Amino acid sequence: MMMFVVSFAAWLCVAAARPSADDQEHRFTAESESEEVRSAAIKRLLEVFGMDDPPANHGHKQPPQYMLDLYNTVADVDGVTKDPYLLEGNTVRSFFDKLHSEQVEFRFNLSTVARTEKILTAELHLFKLRPQPTHTFSRHHFCQVSVYQLLDTIKTNSTQEKRLLSSRLIPVHSTGWEVFTITQAVRSWMLDEGSNLGLQVVVRTLGGSPMDLKLIRFASGRHHHQSKQPMLVLFTDDGRTSATLESADPHEATAPSLLPQAPLSAPPSRTARSLDYGEEDGVSMPCQRLPLYVDFEEIGWSGWIVSPRGYNAYHCKGSCPFPLGQNMRPTNHATVQSIINALKLIKGIETPCCVPDKLFSINLLYFDDDENVVLKQYNDMVAGSCGCH
Ligand SMILES: *[C@@H]1O[C@H](CO)[C@@H](O)[C@H](O)[C@H]1NC(C)=O
Ligand SMILES: *[C@@H]1O[C@H](CO)[C@@H](O)[C@H](O)[C@H]1NC(C)=O
Repeated sequence: MMMFVVSFAAWLCVAAARPSADDQEHRFTAESESEEVRSAAIKRLLEVFGMDDPPANHGHKQPPQYMLDLYNTVADVDGVTKDPYLLEGNTVRSFFDKLHSEQVEFRFNLSTVARTEKILTAELHLFKLRPQPTHTFSRHHFCQVSVYQLLDTIKTNSTQEKRLLSSRLIPVHSTGWEVFTITQAVRSWMLDEGSNLGLQVVVRTLGGSPMDLKLIRFASGRHHHQSKQPMLVLFTDDGRTSATLESADPHEATAPSLLPQAPLSAPPSRTARSLDYGEEDGVSMPCQRLPLYVDFEEIGWSGWIVSPRGYNAYHCKGSCPFPLGQNMRPTNHATVQSIINALKLIKGIETPCCVPDKLFSINLLYFDDDENVVLKQYNDMVAGSCGCH
C-alpha cells in the first residue's frame, strides 16, 4: 500500500521532494505512522474522486443494463474515456422508482444529487410490455403516451394538478424501452425537494379518450423483473473540470501531504539523484512512461465500484540530461534549463523533470449511498505520455 501511495505521489512529479538517502531517519518515523499516512492518503484519494466518504456498501445489486451499456460505450476495459465528446457533462445518475404504485405513477428520490450539480438532461425510461394475449385484437394501432409532473395545488396556488412534460405516439403492439425527456420537472425538484410529488403517465387513444391499461402496459418495480424497472436517468455536470488546472500547479501540488516527511525546500543532492536511477537499473534510463496499476480492490473500494476493477495510471520516470532529444518532448524552458545545468553556469540548477505531458480521463461506474448506479468521468487521471519539463 505504501508503495502505491509513494508512486502515486511521484506521478504528480515531486522529484524535488523525493526522499533521498539522507532521509532514512525520516522514513523510519514515517513507517511508525504508516497507518495514519494510509488513512490520510485514502481520504485524499476519495477527494480526487469527488467524495468525502466511501459510499455505504449495501451488498450486490445488479446495475441497470442501461448504465452498463453506457459505461462500455464511453470507456474502454481500463475505464479510459474513448471519446471525450460523447457525454456533455461528467456525470450520469440512475434512479429506480420508489413508489411501486399500482397506478402508472412514479417517484424518484434525488437526495444524493448535490445541490451544485447542473442538470443537463433528465429522462424517464419505461419498459413497454406486450399487450396481454386477450387484448391483442384491437382496432387501435397507436396510442398517445403523456408524462405529467404532479403538482402541489396549495404550494403553487393554482387549480392545476399536473403539468405536461412530454407526449408521444407509440405503436400499441410495440415492446421495449420508451424514453421521455422530463428535464424541467427535475430542475424544479432540485430547487425545492418538497415539490417532488412524482410523475404520472396517461395513455389515450388518438381521439383523446382514455385507453385500456391492460392494452398498454409498462413494467413496474412491483410486478416485473428488476431489469425492466422504471428508471430516471440524469445527465449532469458537477463542475469539477476547472479544478484540474490547480493540481497541475506545482504550488498547489497536493502530493507533499502524502509524503509528510520529505523536506520540500532542500533540493536533493546529486548523489541522491544518481542513486535514484543508478541503483535500480544500473544505468540512468531516459525519461519514459512506465505502468502504475491502481487496484481498487487493494484500496478496499471493490465493494462499491462496479467498473473498472482498477486502471493503469502510468507514471513518468527517468532522467532528462543534456542534450534533450525531441523524443523527450521537452519544452523550450526545459531545453534551456538542461543547458544551464550542463554548463554548470549557476549552482543548484537541476536537470528538468520527467512528468506527464498528456493526461486522459477515466470513468467510474459505482453505487452511491442510496444504491443508485452512477457513472462519473474524472479528468487527468492517466498519463498519456511523458516529457522533460
Ligand atoms: C430520500 O432518501 C434519503 C436517503 O436515503 C432519505 O433520508 C429521505 O427521507 C428520502 N426522501 C423521501 C422523500 O423519501
Ligand atoms: C393565491 O391566489 C389568490 C387568488 O388568485 C390570490 O388572491 C392570492 O393572493 C394568492 N396567494 C399567493 C400566496 O400568491
